[in-house]
Amino acid sequence: MKNIKDILLKHDQAHLLPLLDALQGDELASFVQQVEQIDWDAAELWKHPEDLSGKGRIQPISGLTREVIEQNQQQYIPVGVEAIKSGKIGAVLLAGGQGTRLGFDAPKGAYDIGETHPVYIFERLIANLTEVCRQCECWVPLFVMTSDINDAYTRSFLAQNNYFGYPSSHIRFFKQDMVPVVDFEGKLVLESAAKLAFSPNGNGGWYSSLARSGLLKDFPQIEWLNVFAVDNVLQRIADPVFVGATILSGANCGAKVVRKCQPYEKVGVLCLEDGISSVIEYYEMTDEMANLRDGDGNLAYSFGVILNYLFNLKKLNETAGKHIPIHVVKKKVSIYSNGEIIKPEKENVYKFETLILDMVRLMETCLPFEVLREREFAPIKNKTGVDSVESARELLRLNGVAL
Ligand code: UTP
Repeated sequence: MKNIKDILLKHDQAHLLPLLDALQGDELASFVQQVEQIDWDAAELWKHPEDLSGKGRIQPISGLTREVIEQNQQQYIPVGVEAIKSGKIGAVLLAGGQGTRLGFDAPKGAYDIGETHPVYIFERLIANLTEVCRQCECWVPLFVMTSDINDAYTRSFLAQNNYFGYPSSHIRFFKQDMVPVVDFEGKLVLESAAKLAFSPNGNGGWYSSLARSGLLKDFPQIEWLNVFAVDNVLQRIADPVFVGATILSGANCGAKVVRKCQPYEKVGVLCLEDGISSVIEYYEMTDEMANLRDGDGNLAYSFGVILNYLFNLKKLNETAGKHIPIHVVKKKVSIYSNGEIIKPEKENVYKFETLILDMVRLMETCLPFEVLREREFAPIKNKTGVDSVESARELLRLNGVAL
């Protein structure tokens, strides 16, 4: 107990001492455990945020355009199919996010986008993966990343729906790590009377959490992991063309990309940074970079990432322990104070996240693989408007999915 008090005092969290004195039994034990699990280096980063602006020398990266892919797909497909059949490919579904913009309390994958009958996001993704499994006559191991917040719901939702026809023998769940959120003075805040507010540590923590789970040992043949976001309902997973092209390219990683539709589109683009593959965010680009054209008149920085990456496992293991930047973001989170839950009207806390796009740099070489936006990119971030349930429904219909 004294030890916990010392920890709180050392980290300037004296406001929690009265609560600590008031707690008893299981609540006290649980609170102590919450404090013990805090990564203080991350929780205090708001004081000295990492300098994330310092990019190296940025240059355009060359990649496979749709025309080139079409010309060479007969070469890529057998390589991809062979890798899938021999168990070298695993799929990783990132489903640990909170989907705050969608404003849906349950896990995003459990969102029903159907109109005349239920069509769940998880169902669409599993249907897409199942198509490849049929083509390759084997099941691709599917790892689902959840967080403390949605793990139980996600597992029971998928079990109740019989995993939408996917064999449970080929599905594994693992949880990502949680980090505390702090107010703008750096004070830990409460989510309920005896519980600190934690949030998932961002999608850049997926590999360290997966590796720590030990689940990869269940599928020892895996050499590549295809990591994808829960919210793109047109997502092609373990796509043999993409897999084959990435393997043949000799790169450590492949990234599905869509062509930017205009110079200032708000999407991160693949580039070279000091000669190494990297992603530059739209807000980091100068006007000159945004408008730069290549010899064919296309935007030079136009490969927009859609969160569908194929990572080489050996290279991932080599990068384990290497630093990945922590982003400090302002978020709106309900907090418990003076006996009641307060729903803020504007951002009220700092959240600490690592991002998967920062892993592209660690991989050093990445193949941009262009796909057609209308066929493979229907993200659901918001309820209405851009990247919304509405826009995704329209794209699903265009692709022949009955809603
Ligand atoms: P987003 O960046 O859209 O975050 O996630 P989000 O938390 O789902 O949504 P907002 O920003 O609160 O509205 C992109 C992908 O990364 C996953 C999400 O589940 C989604 O598949 N993700 C994000 C995680 O798995 N863990 C995280 O901590 C954050």
